[in-house]
Amino acid sequence: MSTEILVTYELYLLKELEASFKCHKLFAAKDPATLVKEHAPQIRGLATFGKWGADKALIQALPNLEIIANMGVGVDAIDLAEAKKRGVIVTNTPDVLNDCVAETAMSLVLNVLHRFPQNEAYLRSGYWATRGNAALAAEAKGKTLGILGLGRIGEKVAALAQAFGMKIRYHNRSKRKVAFAYDPDPQTLARNSSVLLVTTPGGKTTEKLVDASVLDALGPNGYLVNISRGSVVDESALIRYLREERIAGAGLDVYDGEPNVNPEFLALQNAVLYPHVGSATHETRKAMGMLQLENLRLHFAGKPVKTPISA
Ligand code: 8YV
Repeated sequence: MSTEILVTYELYLLKELEASFKCHKLFAAKDPATLVKEHAPQIRGLATFGKWGADKALIQALPNLEIIANMGVGVDAIDLAEAKKRGVIVTNTPDVLNDCVAETAMSLVLNVLHRFPQNEAYLRSGYWATRGNAALAAEAKGKTLGILGLGRIGEKVAALAQAFGMKIRYHNRSKRKVAFAYDPDPQTLARNSSVLLVTTPGGKTTEKLVDASVLDALGPNGYLVNISRGSVVDESALIRYLREERIAGAGLDVYDGEPNVNPEFLALQNAVLYPHVGSATHETRKAMGMLQLENLRLHFAGKPVKTPISA
């Protein structure tokens, strides 16, 4: 009799999951609450994805839950305290997505500086012929990239940015043994940076870490790039600073309440907006899916999981 798991989202490797486990598909259920109620006693695993997470109510509804396997590195949508209390193992998919997310981050840095999306829209609108050449932009070379939350992804972006001739600084809660200059707080980092890149984890500890004081320090020649979580940035302050040109621009991959994006962002010409595509390639989603699957298979084979969350 196969092990029963609950699946919150149509995962990249759903077929492979179904070959190993009896999957109850929450995303396909007409009435998700009834599905959970009917199968709760048999469900021993939960396979989830990013913001679909696992909240307190769901964990509490599954009395025999042993493992929550997330596809994604960020576990801010999983109630970790509740999982810990219940002795439920939580796994994520670190490292396999670093290069892809770093490519996305670097493309946001380049796009926001060079205004490539705005320039493309300019051509498509027919303005090149009618209004003349597009406005001049800015380049990466010689500028300072300030990394807020220098972890495994931040280090990859640093390497890419250095290849473009950027200088690197960072702020973490504690100083790391790295060659980059350290700033003691986000405001100082912003003041010393031309582009401030947010790569912290999400969740309560980083909520609105980038607020008006940080944007003020970044100043009218500074750019903000966020590939972490929308919650890390005070969005209403960001919209105000972009509208009033108190910062030069922003490149965003993540938003509060996504996939609903504050419509005020859409009207801002100095913002480049991606729909949370940091890890969204076939190669990386496959690697993330394989690691998620491996963690579940290991656990139900009675072995230690490969990537338990570190916190
Ligand atoms: C996912 C991510 O696309 O790994 C993460 O934490 O943000 C991305 O890789 C996201 O979790 C989907 O919601």
